[in-house]
Amino acid sequence: MTGGLAALAGTHVIETSEDMHAFGVRVGGMLRAGDLLVLTGPLGAGKTTFTRGIGEGLGVRGPVQSPTFVIARTHPSLVDGPPLVHVDAYRLGSGLELDDLDIDADRSVVVVEWGRGIAESLREQWWDIEIERPTGAADGDTGDTGDASEERDEPRRVTISRASGPVSIP
Ligand SMILES: Nc1ncnc2c1ncn2[C@@H]1O[C@H](COP(=O)(O)OP(=O)(O)O)[C@@H](O)[C@H]1O
Ligand SMILES: [Mg+2]
Repeated sequence: MTGGLAALAGTHVIETSEDMHAFGVRVGGMLRAGDLLVLTGPLGAGKTTFTRGIGEGLGVRGPVQSPTFVIARTHPSLVDGPPLVHVDAYRLGSGLELDDLDIDADRSVVVVEWGRGIAESLREQWWDIEIERPTGAADGDTGDTGDASEERDEPRRVTISRASGPVSIP
């Protein structure tokens, strides 16, 4: 399988949260049913911001949020396209638990946050998307307002690569 995000393979520097959303919109416009995106990156990297853009690009019903209480949320299409299944695998222990969610990966676009090593059981091929915060960022600086909901804009590195592997759930 080619196409899809192939044109975006490689590393992109995304300067702001708004740019991350816009990048997601662009990516969302390139996705089709059956596509699986596995997002990796620390808390606050921008995984959900990116996914929110994807939802907009796909034309699905929002809001795309951090699935704090729900592990997987399905956003139906508003434009007769595939739904977006947004999974937060943070609390999932194994691919077997993901299988329990009965995701219709053939007919959906599936985006899994924290999914590396887990979501691969859904498809034989997927897009690996790593979001990195710049090295040397003032992570330990807690002398801030204490409001962690909106973080100051700083660049992220987003690396998109095609990945494939054997489906080997024992
Ligand atoms: N370049 C950037 N790209 C994405 N988010 C950014 C960027 N700069 C700052 N931010 C902030 O980082 C936070 C990312 O949060 P979120 O998308 O929920 O991350 P995650 O889902 O990876 O935990 C938001 O508060 C956002 O405003
Ligand atoms: Mg998130």
